[in-house]
Amino acid sequence: MPTSRARKIIIDTDPGQDDAIAILAALGRPDALDVLAITTVGGNVPLERTTENALMMVELANRTEVPVHAGCAEPADRALVTAEYVHGPTGINGADRPTPTTAVAESHAVDAIIETLETADDEGVTLCVLGPLTNIGAVLERRPDLTPKIAELVLMGGGHFEGGNVTPSAEFNIYVDPTAAATVFASGVPLVMMPLDVTHKALTSPERIAAFRALGTEAGASAAGMLDFFERFDIDRYGSTGGPLHDPCVIAYLLEPEIFSGRHCNVEVETQSELTMGATVIDWWGATDRAANCLVMNDLDADRFYALLVDAIARL
Ligand code: BDR
Ligand code: CA
Repeated sequence: MPTSRARKIIIDTDPGQDDAIAILAALGRPDALDVLAITTVGGNVPLERTTENALMMVELANRTEVPVHAGCAEPADRALVTAEYVHGPTGINGADRPTPTTAVAESHAVDAIIETLETADDEGVTLCVLGPLTNIGAVLERRPDLTPKIAELVLMGGGHFEGGNVTPSAEFNIYVDPTAAATVFASGVPLVMMPLDVTHKALTSPERIAAFRALGTEAGASAAGMLDFFERFDIDRYGSTGGPLHDPCVIAYLLEPEIFSGRHCNVEVETQSELTMGATVIDWWGATDRAANCLVMNDLDADRFYALLVDAIARL
C-alpha cells in the first residue's frame, strides 16, 4: 500500500509495451508513488485494447485496487492514428496476458481526473502522461480553474534534435492529437517533457533485458518479453543497438529526477501545417523572447535508469 509520504499521481496512458513497463514500475514503488488511477486513451492501439492492457498490468502487479478508467477513443477534431506496426496487434505483444479479474471503472477518464483534482489537497496531483494528450486536453478545456491542483504534468512526447518518429518532424503522442497538446503547452501548468532526444538514449540491450528476466517473476518475464518484441522496430529503422524505452522515463523522473538533465524552454505545437503537423517547436537556444513553459529533458544516466526500473519491478 502507498505510504502517506508517497506522491499522488494519475497515469494517463495508451499501453503499449513501454507504457506497460512504466505502469509496472510505478506500481512497484508505493513507498514513493500513490497511483490514484490509471486513465486510458486511444493511441498505440484503439481504446478498448489500451484499457484491457491497463487492466492486465494492474493484475500482473497484484494492484487491482487501482482503478482503470477508460477515456477518449479518439481526438475531438481528427481521426485516431494507431501504431500496431510498432507495438503489434495487441499493443503489448511479448507480454504474458493475465486475464483481468477487475472491470473497468464506471466513470469516464476525463470525469475521473476532474473529480480527483477537485478533491485534491493543497499538494495537488501529478499527471503522468504517456500517450496522446486527448484526455488531458479535455480536462483543461472543461475545467481550466483546476490547473492549480495539478502539481506537475510530466509527459513523454515531442522531439527537437531527434526530429520525429511518426513523420519527419512529429513524435507519435503529439502527432495523434496536436490540438490537445497545444492546449496543454498553453495551460500554465508546470510541465516536464521527455522528448525523443532523451528517450532515444534510454536504449535496451541484451544485458538490460536479461536483468528483467533474471528477476524470475511473472512481471519480470513479461517486461523482458515485451522489450524483446518492442526493440525490433527501432533497431530496424535507426540501426541502433536497442529500442528506446520512452514512457518509463516519466516514472523514473518522479523517482530520481537527478538522473535526467535538460533546460527550461518555450515549447509550442504546430497545429496548422499538414507537412509539420504535431511538431514541437522547442526554443532550446533562446532564439525568441517567448516565455519558458516547460522543462525539456535532453539526457539521462541510462544505466541508473534501467537499474531503477528493474528494482521497481522486482518489488512487485
Ligand atoms: C510514444 O509513442 C508510443 O508509441 C509510445 O508508447 C510512446 O508513448 C513514443 O513516440
Ligand atoms: Ca505511450
